[in-house]
Amino acid sequence: MSIIEKAASRIDLQRPSAGTGAVPHDSAAVPPQQRVLEDADTAVLAPAAVDTVAVEPAAAAADVPAAPRFSTRRVELDLARMREQGMVTAASGRTRLLEDFRVIKRPLLQRAFAERKRGDKPANLIMITSSLPGEGKTYCAINLAMSIAMELDHTVLLVDADVARPSVLRTLGLPAHRGLMDVLLDDQIDMADVMLRTNVDTLSILPAGTSNPRATELLASSTMNTLLTEIANRYPDRVVIFDSPPLLLTSESRELASHMGQIVMVVEAQTTTQHAVKEALSQLKDCPNVNLIYNKTREFPGIEETYDYHYG
Ligand SMILES: Nc1ncnc2c1ncn2[C@@H]1O[C@H](COP(=O)(O)OP(=O)(O)O)[C@@H](O)[C@H]1O
Ligand SMILES: [Mg+2]
Repeated sequence: MSIIEKAASRIDLQRPSAGTGAVPHDSAAVPPQQRVLEDADTAVLAPAAVDTVAVEPAAAAADVPAAPRFSTRRVELDLARMREQGMVTAASGRTRLLEDFRVIKRPLLQRAFAERKRGDKPANLIMITSSLPGEGKTYCAINLAMSIAMELDHTVLLVDADVARPSVLRTLGLPAHRGLMDVLLDDQIDMADVMLRTNVDTLSILPAGTSNPRATELLASSTMNTLLTEIANRYPDRVVIFDSPPLLLTSESRELASHMGQIVMVVEAQTTTQHAVKEALSQLKDCPNVNLIYNKTREFPGIEETYDYHYG
């Protein structure tokens, strides 16, 4: 079975049959909200904080505190705000989300620093993508980065490579900052000049940078290729997570994928069609280590009647 068929059939397995109350074969033992497939390359991620804090991301944006104070190239992540928004932080306690990302990161980390054969792409470069916008790439990229940064032996660089719709800094409640675009457009600017250190010592951020009409195009430029090689060589012991553009909207995303040792494709439950997923996966057919996160899973009918959670 090809990877595409395998992935598509898994997605089918996870889809609740409308109106029947049928549930996938593996969900009987644990409540559906908590299910994360213990599977090497597919994870099911329920919405965060379903029964704790009802976070409406759009409304929460209005509460963004005044721009955090930071000295040059250091930013303060507002961890309390992140926690309220249902994101992974060290002080969150043992939440379901934390557990979900623990399962998601485990195989990624194992491969990230496994012995690299000649010709292998650097497995510590991990691209988070999806078929379409809004499926949860930024959400998963930030949570995965936080989750890995919380491990003792790992440092993480989170790159906002979704340059046409950058949202890492905004989602974190931080003001815009120079970043990737500036490095690509000005050879006087070094990556280290624009990289942001954070109050989570093991987490740095490379923002998308100054907006540019040619932004997406630049992602597939030879300068970007050089930069990716530089990142891989300069930071071989870091996990580098790229929040990336959706595959079906820009061909540049596919080019970016061709440099990554691992890909995580986020699939929005109940929304993304199987056709879109197959199409996106077919664009990744030459990529090693393609993983799927089935995101924003909802309750299965007849199991948990009280569930009524919506996103902004
Ligand atoms: N598992 C999840 N639980 C709760 N909210 C989520 C989840 N995944 C995504 N969201 C919300 O869905 C919206 C779109 O997600 P986002 O990560 O910005 O998508 P993308 O980066 O793919 O365009 C955001 O408001 C985000 O907070
Ligand atoms: Mg995004």
